[in-house]
Amino acid sequence: MSAKDTTRQTVIVATLLCVVCSVVVSAAAVLLKPLQVANKDLDRKSNILAAAGISDSSKSVDELFTQITTKYVDLETGKFTTDVPAKYDAKKAAKDPQLGQALTKDVDIASIKYQAKVMPVYLVENKDGIEKVILPVHGYGLWSTLYGFLALEGDLNTVVGLGFYSHAETPGLGGEVDNPAWKALWPGKKVYGAEGMEPKLGLIKGSVDPSAPGAEHQIDGLSGATLTANGVTNLVQFWMGKNGYAPFLANLKAGEV
Ligand SMILES: Cc1cc2nc3c(=O)[nH]c(=O)nc-3n(C[C@H](O)[C@H](O)[C@H](O)COP(=O)(O)O)c2cc1C
Repeated sequence: MSAKDTTRQTVIVATLLCVVCSVVVSAAAVLLKPLQVANKDLDRKSNILAAAGISDSSKSVDELFTQITTKYVDLETGKFTTDVPAKYDAKKAAKDPQLGQALTKDVDIASIKYQAKVMPVYLVENKDGIEKVILPVHGYGLWSTLYGFLALEGDLNTVVGLGFYSHAETPGLGGEVDNPAWKALWPGKKVYGAEGMEPKLGLIKGSVDPSAPGAEHQIDGLSGATLTANGVTNLVQFWMGKNGYAPFLANLKAGEV
C-alpha cells in the first residue's frame, strides 16, 4: 500500500471535496439569488398581464406593466391603504401575527387557513376611470394550493380572465385549469347577480347550457377532476365574497375607496 492510500489521505481528500463542492453550491445560490428574484417578479407581472388579457409581442413585460398600477387594499375596510411594509409579500404576511389572521373553518371555504389582512390589487386605468381590476386569488384544489389572478372589467362584475401561475394538480385532470380552451370560457362571465355582492360564479358538473338560467355565472367543469373544480369554485367564491374583495369592490363601485 502506497502512502497515498492511507485512511488519513482518503478522509482528507473526501473532506476537501465536500468543502469545495459546498462552497461552489453556496456561491451559486448567493450569486443567483438576485436573478431568481428578478425572474419571479417578471413571472408575476406576466401572469397579471395574461389574466388582464394584455399582450403585445413587440413590447417587453416591463413596458406592458407600465399600464398597471399596483395598490394595496385593507380587506376588512375594503379601502386602499399605504400602510404596508417595504417588499410586502402577502403570502408571508398571512402567517404573520400582525399582518395576517387565521381563518375559522366556517369562513375558510378555500381551505387556505391563513389570510393576509392587506392584499395587493392591480388596476388598469384610463381617462374615464378603472378599465380593469386584477385580483390575486388562491385556494386548495385536490393536491395543492392554486395561486392565480382573476381580472374583472371596469363594471367590477364581468370577468376578463382567470389564470393560475402555480399549482400541483395532475396534468390532464386538475391540471386542465391551464388549458387555454377552458380558460377561454371565463371572459364575459358575471361574478355577482342583481341582488348584490354575493358571488355566484362557479364551475358546474359537465358543460354549461348557454340558454339555462344563471349560465352567465357558470363555467364548464373539469372532466375527471371534480375535486380540483370544486377547489376553483371555492377559491373564486371566497375571494369574491365578504372575506375577500367584495367590500373593496363595493366601495370602488360607490367611489368610496
Ligand atoms: C393519479 C390520480 C390523479 C388524480 N388527480 C386529480 C386532480 O388533479 N384533480 C381532481 O379533481 N381529481 C383527480 N383525480 C381524481 C379524483 O380522485 C376523483 O376521482 C375525481 O376528482 C372525481 O371527479 P369526477 O367526478 O369528475 O370523475 C386523480 C385520480 C388519480 C388516480
